[in-house]
Amino acid sequence: MEQNLNRFKQRTFQVKSRCALSLLTAKLTMANAELSLKLGRNVILNIYSRIKSIESIREKCKKKGIKPEYTEALEKISDILGIRAVCAFEDDIYRVADILCQHQDVTVIRKKDYVRYPKISGYRSLHLIVEIPVCFQGETSQVRAEIQLRTTAMDFWAGVDHELRYKKGKKEAVLIGNELREYSRVVAELDEKMVELRRQIEII
Ligand code: GTP
Ligand code: MG
Repeated sequence: MEQNLNRFKQRTFQVKSRCALSLLTAKLTMANAELSLKLGRNVILNIYSRIKSIESIREKCKKKGIKPEYTEALEKISDILGIRAVCAFEDDIYRVADILCQHQDVTVIRKKDYVRYPKISGYRSLHLIVEIPVCFQGETSQVRAEIQLRTTAMDFWAGVDHELRYKKGKKEAVLIGNELREYSRVVAELDEKMVELRRQIEII
């Protein structure tokens, strides 16, 4: 059987992936509608999705010491399909996650709470590794995706970090790592203050 990574490029994989991303995006849109109705404000500001390029998959296989084969990569790389939902407020992230987990066809494989427990780098976001059934050409298969839920402030930090450090070599990373970690704490404080501010208005 053909085991090469090129299977990621095949039309079947791309179509199934796009279907899975559409389904998950729809569920996030529904969660937003439900929460907006309940809370009287917009909760999710933006939803982005992407399919990892074959070059990035190849790179990640190398970085993680995974055999560059389709089944192996599919099993061991969780973010070949990725969705990001950006909220204004930190507490809304958990509201969105709770609603998503209520969908019976969404299986949560793993929850990584880098908001309560930030990574050493300072990275903060709530990650859900999920599987969703996709029916295609008469066959139903579970398709895996990584959903990243974060605030605008977390998104800003992650974007800058990604540009300056994450994709760079070790030397540069060490050089600015401490400062970026400190700024992540500043961002976390800001997120907390914004929730407090909103609550002041809510009780009037
Ligand atoms: P990756 O190989 O980096 O995907 O890590 P992983 O498979 O062990 O999963 P992890 O939960 O650590 O990271 C998943 C994703 O979160 C990454 O692909 C990035 O999008 C994001 N991420 C994780 N750590 C960082 C970080 O330090 N900085 C930034 N900017 N993003 C991060
Ligand atoms: Mg990634």
